[in-house]
Amino acid sequence: MTYQEIRKKFLDFFEKQGHKIMPSSLLIPEDQSVLFTSAGMQQFKKYYLDSTSPCGNRVSSIQKCLRTVDINEVGDESHLTFFEMLGNFSFNFPEGEASYFKEEAIRFGYELIVKDFNIPLERIKISVFRGDLKNNVPEDRESLEIWKSFGISEDRIFFGDIKDNFWGPTGSNGPCGPTTEIHIDGIEIWNIVFNEYLSDVSRDGLLNGSAKLLPLRRKGVDTGMGLERLILVLQNQESVFETDLFIPIITELRGKNLYDYKSNQRSERIIADHLKASVFVISDGVMPSNIERGYILRRLIRKIMRHSEKLNLPQDFLQRSLETIINIYKEYYPELNKNKEKILNIFNEEFQKFGKALDKGTKEFEKGIIEFKSNGIIPGPYAFNIQQSMGVTFDIMEDIAKGKGMKIDIDGFKEEEKKHKEISKISQEKKFRR
Ligand code: ALA
Repeated sequence: MTYQEIRKKFLDFFEKQGHKIMPSSLLIPEDQSVLFTSAGMQQFKKYYLDSTSPCGNRVSSIQKCLRTVDINEVGDESHLTFFEMLGNFSFNFPEGEASYFKEEAIRFGYELIVKDFNIPLERIKISVFRGDLKNNVPEDRESLEIWKSFGISEDRIFFGDIKDNFWGPTGSNGPCGPTTEIHIDGIEIWNIVFNEYLSDVSRDGLLNGSAKLLPLRRKGVDTGMGLERLILVLQNQESVFETDLFIPIITELRGKNLYDYKSNQRSERIIADHLKASVFVISDGVMPSNIERGYILRRLIRKIMRHSEKLNLPQDFLQRSLETIINIYKEYYPELNKNKEKILNIFNEEFQKFGKALDKGTKEFEKGIIEFKSNGIIPGPYAFNIQQSMGVTFDIMEDIAKGKGMKIDIDGFKEEEKKHKEISKISQEKKFRR
């Protein structure tokens, strides 16, 4: 099944179940407490709280998302920074017309995966929430029983703790609740969240026990299935990079066999993922800068620079890969084509402005860290100085260090960064006084 067919099958299924299909929101979210949209529910967050959804109580979407927490894991089989999330959502349960909760949400998951996509039960495992005393949330026996009623035997169902089977809130506060997840061949594919609580603090606070969880007056369902992972499973591939969402990009990079791709697989995957992420981020209106969103974009582009340098990619690889990416997504995100020139210009400008310095800085860093080889720890101030003077971003240095079995002293790095910020604040203030 092609990626086009898989997307369509998902949306058709939920449309048939009475869901209104909603377009993806931008990668820059309305909720300013998060930098980038990282889940399908974010554009609907308010409908779990006190507003009424103007599009009814059942909606479904395919949402473009960006997550950079695992940026240095990209290159393995399944980690990505940019991905799309297939989701179905229900609000206002039980009062709202057509709203649903556990029974139906689990049935939809079961029917789509087992019946429509024909995944045999032996490949499936399910997790449910084991409960959490600290936050006073009980074990989710109800979901366990529902799965069993669909023929999933108890030995395929396991319990997970608050870290793995309790989702949210997104941002500084909001709806959250226990989850049940569908795993296929050991990969987590679909997260089904039952929003039953309101957390007054962010997720970190919730995990360390400082949240006050209040029961939500109206419950809701929020689900997220990673499109790339689903395609990986349905196309029986070893990694997301071998599915039809990535093959054209990888083929484009390989071009005329300019590098040995067996020994450069990681670099090629990083370029493919980060290019895609940057293309979408720029298209949604972010410009490279040294703060917040713009800095994340800059970090992505610098990693592309570093790895494309490693693979000796010819100048025009940016333009050709950009066209390939637009081609894959143009049907779903026509704005990419409209923004093509702008995207290419930004890439070229960044490459011209920083390419040489980055290359020099990376080499200097590689040479400089030899003296720390014996204890394996690179002092924070040393790394910070390389970042400041040569533009080598933290994740590039971390990546290089990892490759050599070393680590950057992250506390020392942060300390140095803080000092630097204070100094520049003082000099700014002085400037104003003048
Ligand atoms: N919001 C849930 C997630 O992102 C579905 O995993």
